[in-house]
Amino acid sequence: MLIALEGIDGSGKSTQAKLLARWLRGRGFRVHLTGEPTQGEIGRLLRRVLRKAELLSRSEALLFAADRSEHVREIQEALASGAVVVTDRYVYSSYAYQHASGIDMRWLRQVNSFAPEADMVLCLDLPAEEALSRIGVQRRLSGEHYERADFLEKVRRVYLKLAEGSANFEVVDAARSIEEVHADIVRRVRSRMEAGR
Ligand code: ADP
Ligand code: TYD
Repeated sequence: MLIALEGIDGSGKSTQAKLLARWLRGRGFRVHLTGEPTQGEIGRLLRRVLRKAELLSRSEALLFAADRSEHVREIQEALASGAVVVTDRYVYSSYAYQHASGIDMRWLRQVNSFAPEADMVLCLDLPAEEALSRIGVQRRLSGEHYERADFLEKVRRVYLKLAEGSANFEVVDAARSIEEVHADIVRRVRSRMEAGR
């Protein structure tokens, strides 16, 4: 089973991915906890390049896809060995962020067509302002802040749109305490697992 956590920056994905992995392990599952951008060669290259250069959105999309191509092999190996895979971001991040940056959705789907769908996508949803304040980006009267908040609201809307059209996508209200969000996620994962048996 492949479970992807998605959502805007600061929505609580890595917190919830760790808690979910711990819960699954406690239930006797072997868990492969992973994420994108990866810690691999292309993931590292990608972070370095994104920090330094103003790339075209299309070039960014291709770098994320190249990183994912390596990641998919790792995911498939883990799934084949019987592990449950929990990933902090996956192909849906490219759909949401790169489409919000103006890239055509059909092209994004083509470029990422090698990536198998996740069995379950848990999309952590909350307003961009709240997410930004969680990661310590204070509400400032700066253009840069408003630009980022605006962009993340756009990303959020694409995620919600993706969720509308797809049965494996679950929107989780992330504007609650860590414990409440975790309990909600556990309930959803449990019911998917029971339905799949
Ligand atoms: P992401 O991986 O989506 O960027 P993180 O899990 O790193 O988000 O969380 C961002 C910050 O918000 C961290 O400091 C984390 O401790 C905090 N945080 C996570 N979930 C919640 C929550 N439900 N309520 C308040 N703060 C949270
Ligand atoms: P992030 O989850 O913040 O990774 P880390 O904290 O390990 O650097 O991801 C970095 C940024 O990359 C984040 O703003 C989302 C963006 N991103 C995309 O735009 N497209 C993608 O396909 C992925 C995986 C991430």
